[in-house]
Amino acid sequence: MLGSRVQFPNLVSLRSEPVSEPRHFQTPNRSTAGRPAVAEPCILVIFGASGDLTKRLLMPAFYNLVCDGLLPDKFAIIGMAMDSLTTEAFRDKMSADIKQFSTRAQFEQEPWDWLCSRLYYTPGRFDDDSAFSRLRQLLGKLQSQYSSGGNVLFYMATPPSVFGLISDKLEKAGLNDTATGWKRIIVEKPFGTDLNSAIALNREILTYWKEEQIYRIDHYLGKETVQNIIAFRFSNGMFEPLWNRNFIDHIQFTVAESVGVEGRGAYYDKSGVLRDMLQNHMFQMLAYLCMEPPGSFAPESVRNEKAKLLGSIRMMDDADAVRRNTVRGQYGPGAGLDGKPVPGYRQEPSVPPNSKMETFAAMKVHIDNWRWHGVPVYLRSGKRLWKRGTEIIVQMKSAPDVLFRGTGVESLEPNRLIFHIQPDQGIELQFQAKTPGPTMTLQKVDMRFNYGEAFAASRGTGYEVLIYNCMNGDATLFSRTDLVETAWRIVQPMLDLWQSDPVDFPNYPAGAWGPKAAFDLIENDGRKWVEVLNRETLQQIPLFHNADPILLSSLIMALKPVVFKEGDCVIRKGEMGRALYIISRGQVEVLDDSGSVVATLPEGSFFGEISLLMSSARTATVRAASYCDLYMLEKADFARVLRDRPQFLESLMEVASNRYNIAVHAESLMHDEAPAAGHK
Ligand code: BG6
Repeated sequence: MLGSRVQFPNLVSLRSEPVSEPRHFQTPNRSTAGRPAVAEPCILVIFGASGDLTKRLLMPAFYNLVCDGLLPDKFAIIGMAMDSLTTEAFRDKMSADIKQFSTRAQFEQEPWDWLCSRLYYTPGRFDDDSAFSRLRQLLGKLQSQYSSGGNVLFYMATPPSVFGLISDKLEKAGLNDTATGWKRIIVEKPFGTDLNSAIALNREILTYWKEEQIYRIDHYLGKETVQNIIAFRFSNGMFEPLWNRNFIDHIQFTVAESVGVEGRGAYYDKSGVLRDMLQNHMFQMLAYLCMEPPGSFAPESVRNEKAKLLGSIRMMDDADAVRRNTVRGQYGPGAGLDGKPVPGYRQEPSVPPNSKMETFAAMKVHIDNWRWHGVPVYLRSGKRLWKRGTEIIVQMKSAPDVLFRGTGVESLEPNRLIFHIQPDQGIELQFQAKTPGPTMTLQKVDMRFNYGEAFAASRGTGYEVLIYNCMNGDATLFSRTDLVETAWRIVQPMLDLWQSDPVDFPNYPAGAWGPKAAFDLIENDGRKWVEVLNRETLQQIPLFHNADPILLSSLIMALKPVVFKEGDCVIRKGEMGRALYIISRGQVEVLDDSGSVVATLPEGSFFGEISLLMSSARTATVRAASYCDLYMLEKADFARVLRDRPQFLESLMEVASNRYNIAVHAESLMHDEAPAAGHK
């Protein structure tokens, strides 16, 4: 039915009877019909409450839940940490921090006051019995004050090394007793640092808690776009018949970060990207994308399918298999997104100058089951890459091009389904269409669903749905003992080999696309990484710094990939400029009149944008210094996009004038062959 809203009972639990009356801070546009009920009453205890996680993510998430009317009246939060704060001081600190970290467009005081009045603090060390008896007293008092019925959620916002210690003290203080209401714990990553430590940690926690009481957070599962993978797959009948080895050529997962280690050198140097991103976040997405349909959305049903999928991944059982199927990298000095110099990983604070830790990893996995046999899955992730973006690409097998022989069509592009996880959020289906005209030529076009355009939801932290579901006893979005251990089992051979095998680090400069070996990994199979340019990447070009998202999305669709071999001339001095170029891979050299190199432009840079604004001769020659993948935005396409979206002309004219000192007319922007504009 058009316009109907489907809710996933176990992703955001729906209850027919609200546990307590919802309060009245709903966002104005929210319809009350089909609205999820408020969460179950409880007291939530945060261990490590004075740390970063609480102020940056947890408080903003609680606040969002209050604004959306999803927290019950019978609710309070106790913060516990070593800092000797009073409840008043804790409230003051959180009140100051929320102004900085709230994700809502506008800060509303009333819901915050409601939440703030429910914040309490008790100082204490985690090895101190008396701290836990003070906690017990405070809990008892608040349980009767808020009639929360004995339900307690313990949030371990602490390093895993103290999970066991805290659990032990809770048990000794009688605080994990379920006779008087449910008791649950949320634990944060990292859940172990390898297979053995994960098994040991699981064992330790399972001595105090039953599996159904343990909620292991993976914040990727709180992302709307990640949850939507399941929604998309199982609510749209047309894709399921294609979702297998008969139609899909391969799958790519990219999680690219443009930031470095952001002051977390000490942590990161014990982790690396394999533990930090692939073993947890990326494997979770992989499981969602490739698992069999579960029998229902009941937590165990979904988690069983995920576990089966991860269990079907082929183990790399010797060093050769690891070398054949994986690549690692570490960034050296280079440039950040703004083009300014940034240090290499080994120069980051708290990182040893000879560190062998990887900041980039790529791997090829095989799923040994009926559905996916012979369909490779490529994963890559890294820090200090030339863009920020998480995308999943499902590439279909190509259509035979036999029909198009002898036409203007050189080759057929395969269809691709792209899940844009972040920062662009949406789903795109790429296919080909005939370009208008008397001959048969094709152009890549797409159908695109964009979250921001389709839904008017406030941006959250991703923790809202996780906390809400945990309060309702729904573990679908949390990891399970066997899932965690299987994920470690898959990467353990890599961890082992990487520890002993020599490396030649750094092997990619900050701001590049990662080491060359990562390209070889996929290209040796006759495939290519699909580089998805998103709005953020286009915004790095001064012409598009503040451009409207709709304009940016249209321009992205108009970009065409072009390839140059080393030594090829990309643009020649004196020729009329007809396109802007973005370097996706490789380097180009800018030459002066005598043919000497005056500058080298690395991956992520661009050149030729003036040609979009005015018809003028190129002022320099640019040559490929290596094999290059470029994206080209042709003036003709730029003009077409502007004809379709004339509302953006004025702002572009302003940028042309202010940034490039070019007075340009609307007419000439909208027409490729327009009379040349002139310098002011
Ligand atoms: C965390 C990692 O789990 O995820 C960080 O420890 C990483 O290193 C972060 O930057 C990425 O999360 P997001 O939500 O920004 O993609």
